[in-house]
Formats: sequence, structure tokens, C-alpha cells
Amino acid sequence: MNTIKTLLILVALSFLNAQAQELQSPNGKFVMYFALLNDGTPTYQLNYLNKEIIKKSKLGLELQNDSQSLLNDFTVVKTTPATFNETWKTVWGEETEIQNHYNELAVLLKQNKTEREIIIRFRLFDEGLGFRYEFPQQKNLVYFTIKEERTEFAMTGDHTAFWIPGDYDTQEYDYTESKLSEIRGLFQTALTTNASQEQFSETGVQTSLMMKAADGLYLNIHEAALIDYSCMHLNLDDKNLVFQSHLTPDAQGNKGHLQAPCVSPWRTIMASYDARDILASRMTLNLNEPCKIEDTSWIKPVKYVGVWWEMITGKSSWSYTNDFPSIQLGITDYSKAKPNGTHGATTKHVKELIDFAALHGFDGVLVEGWNQGWEDWFGQSKDYVFDFVSPYPDFDVEGIHEYAKSKGVKMIMHHETSGSARNYERHLDKAFQFMNTHGYEAVKTGYVGDMLPRGEHHYSQWILNHYQYVIEKAVDYKIMVNAHEAVRPTGICRTYPNMIGNESARGTEFQAFGGSKPNHTTILPFTRLIGGPMDYTPGVFEMDISKVNPNNDSHVNTTLTNQLGLYVVMYSPLQMAADLPENYNRFLDAFQFIKDVPVAWSTSKYLEAEPGYYITIARKDKNSNNWFVGNNNGVNPRTATISLDFLDKDKKYEATIYADAKNADYKTNPQAYTITKQKVTHKSKLKMTSAAGGGYAISIVEIK
Ligand code: NOJ
Ligand code: CA
Repeated sequence: MNTIKTLLILVALSFLNAQAQELQSPNGKFVMYFALLNDGTPTYQLNYLNKEIIKKSKLGLELQNDSQSLLNDFTVVKTTPATFNETWKTVWGEETEIQNHYNELAVLLKQNKTEREIIIRFRLFDEGLGFRYEFPQQKNLVYFTIKEERTEFAMTGDHTAFWIPGDYDTQEYDYTESKLSEIRGLFQTALTTNASQEQFSETGVQTSLMMKAADGLYLNIHEAALIDYSCMHLNLDDKNLVFQSHLTPDAQGNKGHLQAPCVSPWRTIMASYDARDILASRMTLNLNEPCKIEDTSWIKPVKYVGVWWEMITGKSSWSYTNDFPSIQLGITDYSKAKPNGTHGATTKHVKELIDFAALHGFDGVLVEGWNQGWEDWFGQSKDYVFDFVSPYPDFDVEGIHEYAKSKGVKMIMHHETSGSARNYERHLDKAFQFMNTHGYEAVKTGYVGDMLPRGEHHYSQWILNHYQYVIEKAVDYKIMVNAHEAVRPTGICRTYPNMIGNESARGTEFQAFGGSKPNHTTILPFTRLIGGPMDYTPGVFEMDISKVNPNNDSHVNTTLTNQLGLYVVMYSPLQMAADLPENYNRFLDAFQFIKDVPVAWSTSKYLEAEPGYYITIARKDKNSNNWFVGNNNGVNPRTATISLDFLDKDKKYEATIYADAKNADYKTNPQAYTITKQKVTHKSKLKMTSAAGGGYAISIVEIK
């Protein structure tokens, strides 16, 4: 009798478990199904326009030293639906207001044997799905260590992907376009060297991952609100075409130490048959918490120049002297050292840059190599490498501050940590006080080389908490942060808009380290920029780097007007004009666009987009009625007609068009461009041609 009873209960339970819970997006185009497998494993499935786009995929977490883990044996206790619709104002962004509209399903699960509870919260937007794990406060789950997150993303076909190798330490790779099934075979060729890198699997890739299915569906997988957790990669089971989450381990190989109550980051899946929808989506920002900074008046977009490209190209040096085989800060006596004659950050040279910035209306000047320690800064796993407050003898901090102030220009501080996070935290308060004292409102941080504490990775939980600590500490000092080599962003800039930039991808610097693929910037907006703006440092006009430094034979793989288009295509509230003043002085007519282009926008229109091939975006200035259009093109020359129907119907404008000349080509003739002017209205259509590796930029100024 008892056995029959148990059997009946089990049948009833499995029936309940098998019953799928359904969630629809506000526009009804997406439907998500949640269900438990017979063994109590949670699963989800995603449909778009009545078609399955993510096959039934498992959810759960494997825990360290916990045979039960959080993988199966669950029953549904309760499901709570909700709907949310709100519009919020940005401090800066691609538009001034963002709508946050979704339907939600919170599934409360109980693990039968352990009586532990978790919630899986699903939010379905018109652009896609976000879901996360939540661990409520409870007796049986307090402190726990993640062995691996077991979230699956089961693909419906052998999609084309734009991928970079999965790596615990760097995203500074060129993208490879291939079928999912080809990733393994291409993995080794996709690798390029970096100061710190570690891959984990020949089918491991990074997010944000952009894909295109055979039927033309665009799919994007990423994460949002990555806080106090480790960064997620995707490991592909290439037999079954199922992506499995793969978290970045810490020095002990653990993937995350959690204490309930807590939540995981959101896992996101966006989809559309129109690639422009992926660029226009604000889902990643919407899944982050609202702004936590009360007074944001000190946070301002910045256009800047810097003592930088000359070091990147090898023309000048960060270091001051060649006298010392190694440096011990506080002991090494720089006052007796012989200057090496190539030091970039000298007072005289910095003042020249300030003059250039003031003359052309830039907000700021970044100076790298101003502080002691660069003679011996990385490669040795050195702990106490910089103190961030000791300038070189030829850099007059206060004199430069006064000079910049008199010219209406702000200085931007540089803090290279060499990956020594512990050392940076040790000095952080003093370093930020030093910035306050000397009028610096923004800092560019950097994490070149292997991480310290040793064995930690650029993307492991402890180090991510360090980046977050720096951002929050910077708020106390009203400092804006632009972190290089830190984890790729996940929309946290909504919560902390003082994070005005990040690198976390292969930036322009690689054009001086041998070059990047010509279509690189037609992919970045679909991948790296999904989580937030990039300090891509565009604006290089001299493509033959040997003209800057005869010992560097790199070639910048774009045309000159492609570089102009970047200021619109690659959204960022922080934009650099990276090249040397002497190169801008040779092309002052084209430089005019960089001077005119705003860094603050009120709205954005995505005119054309195909990852790997082309992107054209129009944006409206936040402070005027002027519009700016940017195009970046891949390797196939392309002609297309764009409509200016986004312009105000009652206004007339003058368009200045900076375009590739007929014979332009990124390799053979990158500096061939034309500048033409014409009157335009909302009825105008422009036939535009972009060269191989080319692009264009248009400023559309209201005629009053
Ligand atoms: C790498 C950064 O991306 C680059 O911008 C910086 O100049 C160097 N590190 C030195 O800090
Ligand atoms: Ca870098």
C-alpha cells in the first residue's frame, strides 16, 4: 500500500514538475517556458515569433564540497508574476531617457532533501530575456562556494558567431567569424599574445557573444550587473551545440564565495531579425540597479587628448631614465638619475598639449608616465610598483595644474597598477586626495600583466570586487573612472555613472602593436559595447606608424574617415583624439569633425547594421538641434543610401560630409578623403560610399 501511495505522489509530483510556466514579453514576441525535469532539474526555453530560439536548457549551480549542489531535486513552491514599466533619466548615455519595461516571473524552488530554497527570476523584455539566481536568507544555505555555475544556452543550429577566445585575463583579441562547429578548429589561430592571458577550453568563448542563425536571426548572450561574483564565459559542447556557463576561478580554483541573502548577475539573451535592435536595446542597463550617486553634477562627458600615442607607438617613453636596473620606490633616488631623453611626460611637453587642447576646445589632457616607477613596471609580478603620488623630477604637478586651469583645461590622471590590485588599494585614498589637491577630476586606471595577489585573474571575484571598490571609493572623492584591462562592463555604469569608460577589449593601441582586423569596429558595438562604453581612443590620422616611430612598422587598418565615423559608431561619454598634434595639424579640415562632434547625446538612431560588415548610426547632440552620423565599414567597399528622416520636419540644416575618396582603401590609400557641404532637410537622402576598411562622418548643423 505504502509503495503505491509513494508511487502516486511521485507521479503527481512529476506531473506538476512537467507543467511549464509561461512568461511573455510585453509585445508578445518572446515567450519563455520554465519547467522542471523529472529529477527536479530547473530548465528554461525561449521562443521568438513562435519559433524556438533557445532549446530547453538546464539551470543550476554546482557547489564545492556539497554532494547535493543546487542542480536538481527541486519542486516549485510558488511562482510570482509581475510587470514593470518605468522611464528613467540617464546621467549620460545614448539618450536622455530610457524605458524599462518587462514582464517578470519569480520561481521559488525548494530542494526536497536539503530543504534549501532558491529563486530563479526571469525578466522578459521586448528585446529578450534576463534571468538570475537568488539565494534568500535561510538556515540551510548561508556561506557557500561555487564549483561551477551550470547554466546552459542550447542553440537551435550551427549559428555563425563573432567570437574571441575565452580567457580569464584578457579580452584584447580580434574577433573571428565562424560557425559554432568551427570554433575548435580555429581556436589556436584566434589567439594573439598578451601580457596576461589564460584560456580554459578550445571551445571557450567570451561574452558578449554575437551570433547570427541561418534564418537571419541575431542572437546575443551576455550578463548584466556583474557584482560580487566572477565573470562568466561560455564553453561550447560542440557536438550538441550547447553553451555551458564557465566562471572565472580564483587562485584556489574556486568560482565564487557567496553568503545568502545574495543574487547572481543576470544572464541575458537578446534576439531580433534586425541587427539594429541589438544595438538599440537598453536591456543590460535596465537589469542594473538605478543610480546610487545622489549628486551627479560632477559627472561630465569628456573629450580629451593626451601624452599617450607617442608612447604606444614607441616614439617616446613612460620612463624617465635608463640608469636603474630596478626600482624600489622611496629608496631609488631619481634626483641623481640621468634623463633618458625620450621621456614623454615632461612639463614642457605637457604644456604644449594643454595649449593644443585649449586651442581646439578639448575638455581634458591625459598624461601617462608622470609618476616614478615606470623603469621597472611589469613582468616581474612586482607588488609595490607605483605609489601614485610621486612625480618624476621633470613633471611639475602644481605648475601644470595652474597652467591647465588658466587655459580652461582639466588634467586626467593615470594610475597604472601593473595588476597589483593590493598595492593600488594600499595607496588609493592618498592617490585620490592627491588628485583632488591638484585638480584632477578623472582617472584612467590600468591592469597590465598578471594579477597580484598571485594566482588571481583579471576576471575573478576578488579582483572584480577590487574594481568595484575603486569605483565606489572614487565617488567619495568625486572622481570619474576609466579602467583599462578590467573586466568587461555589464551595465554597472547605470548604478555608478562615474564609471565613464572602460577598455576591456582590443582598443586602438593594437593598431600600433601590429594592427587589428579592418572590420573590428563593426563588431565591437555588438559585443563589448553591450555592457557599456569603451575608451577605444579613436582619431588616428597617420596610418603608417613608421612615420611616427621609424622602428615601428605597424599599419592602422582603417581609412582616415573611418576614424572620424568611430566618434559616433562607438558610443562613449569619454572620447579621445588619440593622434599627435602634428598629425592633426596636417589635416585640420578633417580634424574639424573631431572638434565638432559632441560627447553628450539626447537620442540615437540606428540607420544600418550588420555585424562584421557595416554600422551607421545618427545621434542628436544633447545641447543643440545638431545631428551627427557615423559609419564604419568592413573589408567590402559599400554604397548605400541613408535617409535623413530623423531630422526635425520644421528645420533646415547644413550637412558637412567627410567621406572616403573614390580611390581610398585602408591598406593602400587610407588618407584619401573628401569634404563636401550641402543643405539638407528631413526629406533628404544621401548616397554614401565607404571604402574597404573605410567609413564616413557627417555633421548636420541647424541653419537658424
Ligand atoms: C595599456 C593601456 O591600454 C594603455 O592605454 C596604457 O597606455 C598602457 N597600458 C600603459 O598603462
Ligand atoms: Ca589595454
